[in-house]
Parts: sequence; C-alpha cells; structure tokens
Amino acid sequence: MNYRQQFAEEIYTHLQGLSEVDEIHSLIEEPKYNTHGDLAFPCFTLAKKLKKAPQQIAKELSTKIDAPFLEKTVAEGPYLNGFFNKQVVSKQVIRRINTEKEDYGSSSAGAGKIVTLDFSSPNIAKPFSMGHLRSTVIGNALANISEKYGYKAIRINHLGDWGTQFGKLITAYKKWGLEEKVRENPIKELFYLYVMFHEQAEKHPHLEDEARFWFKQLESGNEEANQLWKWFREESLKEFAKIYELLDIAFDSYDGEAFYNDKMDKVVQELKNKDLLSLSDGAEVVELAAENMPPCLIKKKDGATLYATRDLAAAIYRSRAYHFEKSFYIVGQEQRLHFEQLFLVLQKMGYDWAASLKHVPFGFILKDGKKMSTRKGKVVLLEDVIKEAIDLAYQNIKTKNPELENKEEVAKMVGVGAIIFHDLKNERQNNIEFNLDEMLKFEGSTGLYVQYTHARSCSILRKASAENNLSVSGLTDSYSWTVIKILMDFPNVIEKSFQQAEPSVIAKYVLKLSQDFNKYYGQVKILADDAEQSSRLALVKSVAIVLKEGLKLLGIKAPEKL
Ligand code: ARG
Repeated sequence: MNYRQQFAEEIYTHLQGLSEVDEIHSLIEEPKYNTHGDLAFPCFTLAKKLKKAPQQIAKELSTKIDAPFLEKTVAEGPYLNGFFNKQVVSKQVIRRINTEKEDYGSSSAGAGKIVTLDFSSPNIAKPFSMGHLRSTVIGNALANISEKYGYKAIRINHLGDWGTQFGKLITAYKKWGLEEKVRENPIKELFYLYVMFHEQAEKHPHLEDEARFWFKQLESGNEEANQLWKWFREESLKEFAKIYELLDIAFDSYDGEAFYNDKMDKVVQELKNKDLLSLSDGAEVVELAAENMPPCLIKKKDGATLYATRDLAAAIYRSRAYHFEKSFYIVGQEQRLHFEQLFLVLQKMGYDWAASLKHVPFGFILKDGKKMSTRKGKVVLLEDVIKEAIDLAYQNIKTKNPELENKEEVAKMVGVGAIIFHDLKNERQNNIEFNLDEMLKFEGSTGLYVQYTHARSCSILRKASAENNLSVSGLTDSYSWTVIKILMDFPNVIEKSFQQAEPSVIAKYVLKLSQDFNKYYGQVKILADDAEQSSRLALVKSVAIVLKEGLKLLGIKAPEKL
C-alpha cells in the first residue's frame, strides 16, 4: 500500500527498462498544490535517456498509466501528476490501519540492526537537572522511534559516577556531613555538601588539595573512600529511580563512568602505541590542532583520567559489546566540542565505526527567558516539579470531569504527558520555556489536547458500540479525505523522525492529526444512521489507533476517558 512505490512501478512498466524502479521512486514528490494531485513525477532526468523533451514524456505517460488507486494522471508541463482515487485509497488506508492496529507504521528497515542510545546520564550526588530531563525525554522517544523503525534499541544510562568531584564530596562529608541526614534526603544533603565545599574552598584553598588526595585514594582503591562512594551512588540511584518511575522509563544498562575504570589503561596504551599521545604541560593529550580543535585531554598531570578518557573506553567497549550500527549520544549542545573531539580521536585510532557515532544535541530549558540553573544551595528537585504537574492535572480534571473514575491514574498520564510533549513539540535544538500552566492547556499545542482528542475518538466509538470488524466502503468528502491523507503519512513521518533523530516530527504530526480530526468532528455527523456510518466509525478508530501509537512513541500514555 505504498503508493509512491506503486506509482513508481506503474511508470517503470511504461519505460521499458530505461530506468530503475528505485531511481524513479526516489524522484517522486508531493505536488506543491493539492489541486495538482497527490503524487508528482518530474520527467527531467529521463529526457536525456529517452532523447525526448520532459513535457513530451509526461504527456505520453499520462495517456498510458491506468491503475485502480489512481483516478487519473495529468501532464503538467514536465511533471506527471497522479490523482488518487479517493474511494479506493481511503478504503485501503482505513482497512489497513484497522487490521494492523498498533503495528501500523512499523518498518523493518532496521531489522537485525542495533542502535545504542546514551541518554539521561545524570551525575551522582547532584540533583537531576532540567538538562538531564531533556536528555531523558528525547532519548527515550528516539529509542521508541528506532524500535518502531525496526532496530533493536539499547538504552544506556552513562551515569556520572566518577571524577574529581567525588574527592570534594568525600572531603566535605568527612568534615561536615551527617549520616542520618544523607539517608533522609540524599540528593539535597549531598548537594548541600558539594556547594559547601566550593564556598569553603574559596576561603581555604588547601581543601582543594585534600579533595585531590581523596580522589587519588578513591582511584587507587582505598577502602574508606570506596565505601563512601558506593553509598553515595546507591542513595542517588534510589532518588533517580523515582523520577524514572514517574516517567515510566527503563534502561538496559547503568554502566556509567566508573564502569570504565579498569578499561582505561588499555585505551591509554593503545593511544601510545598508535603514536597519538603527546605531552602538554605535563598532561597527556591527543593533539587536534590540524583539525582546528583544542587538544583532547586524556590524562592529567597527576595521572588522573578524565571524562573524555572514560568516553573513549565506553565507545570502544560498546562497539564490541553491542555491535551497533548506530550509536547516539543525547547530550546538551554545550558538550558539542567534547563529542567532536571524541569522535575524531576514535577515527584517528583507526576505528571505522567512529563514523556511526552521532551526537544528538538539544537546547536549554529556560524559566522566564533565563537559563534554569540550580543556584547555589537552592535546589529545585525534578521529582517535585513532576509531582506538581500531576497535581495541577488532577485539579484540572476534577473541575472538568468530576465523574471520571480513575482520576489519579489519569492525572499522572496527563501531568507527565504535558511535560514530555512540551519538550518534544519543538525541534530539539531550540531552547524551551518551562511553564506548567502553558503545558497543561486543553486547547493549543499541548499533550493534553492530543490526549483529549484521542479520548474523544474513544468516546465516539463507545457511544456507537462500534464493533471490531467494521465494514469500510471508502470516504470521499473533503473533511474525511484530509484526515485520511494525514493517516497515510504516518509511516513516512516515522522514517523522517528517525533519520533526523527528531521526535518533534512525530509530536507535530499528532497535533496536526488532532486538529484536522477535530475539524472533521465539528463538520461531519459521524453517528448519523446512513450507509457510510460504519466507514466513518472505522476512520475514527484509525485516528484513535494512530494518535495512541504516536503518543506512545513520544513516551506519553493515552487514557481512553478524560
Ligand atoms: N553526566 C554527563 C553530564 O551530566 C552526561 C554524560 C553524557 N554521556 C556521555 N557518554 N558523555 O554532563
């Protein structure tokens, strides 16, 4: 039912082997104006081969092509335009969606291939930031989209659980920390200690030496240091788990930076063997001057390894462990240079798979136009923010639909959905303004609007007691047709959003589908008792299926009642 493909095949049969089907397929476009039909084939490239003017080719093809899914073909200058037979096509599309259900739009393009997605990756002993929220939401959507496209997705949480900050934290804890306080409220307390360290270190610089000492102890396996580290890590993970549970997101691996501790010596040795290391101020670096980039720091003067060293080891490890075809890093745009350097070093090491690594950057979350940062000591816990959204959603529902049975469950779907949709509806590189009231509006570009439209379609089906096997005879009026054309596009939309690593393509799509379905709902008497009722109900069902699946790809649930 891929009409582009069918159109290409039709054209191909009349060209007597002068061109390949695939080539023709790749040339087919959508006409700019819908008065020019549904499919367009530009004949320019054939002109040379056929030794004919493109206008002539278009004209000849238009007289020859005759297929049931086309009402007619028309030569428009050098273009061959195809007009769908609405009766035939609408019937096929609606039937297909009703049969394939949530599998509609799935592809086997990625079958047998693996994509790894490095996302979320918060830092231990620090609050889960807004930036990490973006990474979490975008990364999870991309993983879902990759799966829909046929790939096996491996979700990796590259925890920030190693680095000099642990020297600082251990120092601070030993000086000012209290065990019960950390147990009671780990993230708040550990972050408080971290902030305290920085304040004190400004006045007492020797604290920095102490922190370096403790990090060295940690790296060389000192028992006390390692016990503390392990404890901080566990407590932090428990806190992060609450957020993942609210968002309903799970990972295949929590192998973070610390996991690579015993894998770095080999990498450093390999860099040496490949003659890539040089000394700069006592530190070991890979020079990237030829590429107009600052050197990539591999080992500090004191022998300590760095973020980049661990990422090198991680990439090499993952390529061996997962044999990925693609490997995405969903990390804020402020780390662009880091990833450019990382990929370049791997390339210099001779790894051809370095070309399949991709940094997927995104913009900031702003509050009143300003960057949202965890100001000194004042921590906004993400868990509280999400809970606030759920609470607001609950109040909303209580006033709008007091009868609703499972209000709490639905409020969770709506509150969480609002946050996710607000993030994903814009291209990821844009900054986004964080405003809960805006996110939870019933009208406008919100997750709630899409969820509401989905619930509306479910409610129509309930009212009609629509059966499972609705008979479909095709719909040709313009309101239906607009909706059907959008439904048809779903498989392409998934492909596009995968190719561009851009969940917003799907978010925009479900918004558009909702808007046009609501127009349809306003104009057409869906439940009128006539010969087309069953077809209309099948269309409503198709809309419900696609909205639900689209939202699911974004990581948002679609309640049947709202
Ligand atoms: N923990 C890092 C941060 O918060 C993000 C890690 C991203 N992943 C990676 N492989 N570097 O900035």
